[in-house]
Amino acid sequence: MYLGLDLGTSGVKALLIDDNQAVIGSGHGALEVSRPHHGWAEQDPADWIRACDEAISELRAAHPGGLAAVQGIGLSGQMHGATLLDSADRVLRPCILWNDTRSHAEAARLDADPRFRTITGNIVFPGFTAPKLVWVKNNEPDLFARVRKVLLPKDFLRLWLAGEHVSEMSDSAGTSWLDVAQRRWSPELLAATDLSIDHMPALVEGSHRAGALRSGLAAQWGMTPGIPIAGGAGDNAASACGMGIVGKGHAFVSLGTSGVLFAANAAYLPNPESAVHTFCHALPDTWHQMGVILSATDSLNWLAGITGTAAAQLTDELGDVLKAPGGVTFLPYLSGERTPYNDAAIRGAFVGLEHASGREALTQAVLEGVAFAFRDSLEALKSAGTVLDRVTAIGGGSRSRYWLKVIATALGIPVDIPSDGDFGAAFGAARLGLIAATGADPLAVCTAPATQATVEPDAGLASAFEDAYRRYRALYPAIKGVQA
Ligand code: XUL
Repeated sequence: MYLGLDLGTSGVKALLIDDNQAVIGSGHGALEVSRPHHGWAEQDPADWIRACDEAISELRAAHPGGLAAVQGIGLSGQMHGATLLDSADRVLRPCILWNDTRSHAEAARLDADPRFRTITGNIVFPGFTAPKLVWVKNNEPDLFARVRKVLLPKDFLRLWLAGEHVSEMSDSAGTSWLDVAQRRWSPELLAATDLSIDHMPALVEGSHRAGALRSGLAAQWGMTPGIPIAGGAGDNAASACGMGIVGKGHAFVSLGTSGVLFAANAAYLPNPESAVHTFCHALPDTWHQMGVILSATDSLNWLAGITGTAAAQLTDELGDVLKAPGGVTFLPYLSGERTPYNDAAIRGAFVGLEHASGREALTQAVLEGVAFAFRDSLEALKSAGTVLDRVTAIGGGSRSRYWLKVIATALGIPVDIPSDGDFGAAFGAARLGLIAATGADPLAVCTAPATQATVEPDAGLASAFEDAYRRYRALYPAIKGVQA
């Protein structure tokens, strides 16, 4: 048995798999995000521990024997968060999360230093970790002076589980301090933010051992003390391991809170100008690129909230047959955008409303707007040297077949739907735990699930979608020009 623990933004998931990778059961612990000021998003790391304990306890209640038989653990987590610890490993302040934009000015200043893009292969985005530390230095200097370690969220869980400061390449690539080609911390970039290697955890590959379960916790959960904990991965790389997206040309489109178009690569192919993220993958000698849009299902959930109608009902109202884009266009920039604009200040818009525009027209525009944002990411990946000929859909939004038709047609490539099952980040983390514990060949473990169905682009609507995409593209500069 193997255990995957995924520390998401809205909860911790604990997933148990057997030696053949069949899912045995799962447990969940809920989390909330606190937004004390405009643009802020924080969580108390103590809540991660509570939620993780709840998730494992729920799993234990249903599968005590299974948990007792666990031989390896893997971790996955929301990326980029800054967890600040003092010399006694006490948490100094709430963790500043991946979707917190308070440090946009600090990010722009670091990004203007050419060393950051050269060494990390990425823009310094406001959500990344380094600018958050500069913000803390500028705004909470006494606290900054007490910082002894900076950990990413899942690595803070590891500290609790194993008592060690260790991270791995995929998550660390999102800090703006990693030399992504060489897979090691950059002393130069750390020094540029008044930090040093001593503030960082040790680094391993995601599929390698990075600690062992402490005996106190093992006793509490009826588990075996000392079982290995794998390095694990940031949530996107972990999901990719779960989906078998580890080789060149494999790609997924994730319709979660944020949206991700993720492509695995055997080489380091940076192209920061296109606002593509180029990160290490969770397996040795592999990298990945991704376009990230900040509001995917979040956009539909926003519409659901203001119309008082469940998201599933909104998409059901559109029926099954794909429609040509109507006159209403939606820009999904509810909390700014990463790819392709790196613009924390831009906000969303509906354009082209008329008397006849009803709820359905707005829903259709929202689904199309998110699909066009993915198209922007597809174009950005292309300019970074990665041409995709198909993608696999994952995430809550992929339950809408209509949305997948919109995406296939907007991207002009087939979208594969995996067979039913749990192939997300927790599953990928469990696979990494299996590899770390057994030394199994990662490529033999990280295989793709069977495809249940493929949604083809609608050739008859291709040119209508192309026209609508061009209108969508023209709106960003226009909206930016008149934004308050
Ligand atoms: C990736 C990113 C998000 C978070 C969500 O760069 O910021 O996908 O990892 O958990």
